[in-house]
Amino acid sequence: MRVALGVSGGIAAYKAAELVRLLQDKGLDVQVVMTRSAREFITPLTLATLSGHKIITEMFGGEAGGGNIESAVEHIAVAQSIDALVIAPATANVLAKMAHGVVDDFLTTLCLATQAPVIVAPAMNVNMWEHAATRENLETLSHRGVRVVNPDEGYLACGMTGAGRLAALESIVQAVCEALGLREDFSGETILVTAGPTQEPLDAVRYLSNRSSGKMGYALAEAGRRRGACVVLIAGPTSAEPPTVHTLERVRTAGEMAEAVFRHCDSAGVIIMAAAVADFRPANPQAGKIKKLDGPQVMNLEPAVDILAELSRRPRCAGQIVVGFAAETENLIENAAAKLRAKHLDLMVANDVSRDDAGFDVDTNVVTLLFPDGRTIPLEKMSKFDVAHRVLDEVVGMRRFAASVVQQ
Ligand SMILES: Cc1cc2nc3c(=O)[nH]c(=O)nc-3n(C[C@H](O)[C@H](O)[C@H](O)COP(=O)(O)O)c2cc1C
Repeated sequence: MRVALGVSGGIAAYKAAELVRLLQDKGLDVQVVMTRSAREFITPLTLATLSGHKIITEMFGGEAGGGNIESAVEHIAVAQSIDALVIAPATANVLAKMAHGVVDDFLTTLCLATQAPVIVAPAMNVNMWEHAATRENLETLSHRGVRVVNPDEGYLACGMTGAGRLAALESIVQAVCEALGLREDFSGETILVTAGPTQEPLDAVRYLSNRSSGKMGYALAEAGRRRGACVVLIAGPTSAEPPTVHTLERVRTAGEMAEAVFRHCDSAGVIIMAAAVADFRPANPQAGKIKKLDGPQVMNLEPAVDILAELSRRPRCAGQIVVGFAAETENLIENAAAKLRAKHLDLMVANDVSRDDAGFDVDTNVVTLLFPDGRTIPLEKMSKFDVAHRVLDEVVGMRRFAASVVQQ
């Protein structure tokens, strides 16, 4: 994930060097953007060396880069490529410009051009901090959804004592992680996710498959990774770009997917089966290409391996949670509930794949969560990434409930 670190011209700008390191420790790629004033407090060379990227300071490319198309569109390119923008330290001046939509340098232009979450960590003299203008500007920004990491109190560089010292860098990093959904609540845990379709060969060139894009499984893998899990992703053939995970195994058939799942399942605390695994496969796949014949052809099918059913027959590791996905076109809840019971799942995510805005090959999903105790929770239409986080939230909830029962 990529974060832009905006550094503005306050004494605390020197702390940006350490902040770059701490953000990188969270696996984040950091692009530093400096105001002109910030360069009076820390050199771009220091931050470029630490971040591994050239520092952006000029809107128009500066003396060297002026007039070229790359620098002219850079603010939009950066705005679109980042997952969050954090400004630390944020001067009273930058906060005022942000509150009033003034965009007279690269950093403030980026603030308006990006749709990523914005976090500001103000730092300034106590009188500047308490000034009505600063208070009003911060209120405006908070109302707009900007996250504010309030400064700490203490001795200030200007010799005064009070609020205005840049917040502890750990608090700023935590705010960035929260904005990115990096919650760390699966830290040290292995999550096994399956994604995508399977292909069941008919002959050397043909196969039976389905329209699954793998996007739901990939969103689950990405969400798990962001929350600190070691993710093992077993993916069927799909053109979607997989997220960066600890282990990625590419498989083709249901049999190959089953083999990979059984190889990894004992080390996983959570298993999420989001792949659209074939129910049937050609009974007699041919080694060569079947010749074209006149008249109707009959293809004999046999059941493919039912991975979830197989899993449910195996002894489970203590505390392991198994989540299934059911893609249905009719009687969604009844069919999904029957699968939940038959396969002894902890959670079933049912999605109606007959809808245009849900299921296969779209970025949104409309799902219902089903639990073994008969509860069902229909969720509104949301991005697959949000569905993924919701599923992980439910897993966390189940864990908490199980822990409280043990304590009692
Ligand atoms: C030595 C010195 C220290 C400063 N420290 C701060 C500060 O901590 N916070 C702040 O808001 N402004 C501070 N300022 C004022 C800003 O540098 C000034 O408002 C500048 O225009 C900010 O530009 P920028 O917001 O584009 O970075 C300081 C100025 C000087 C000369």
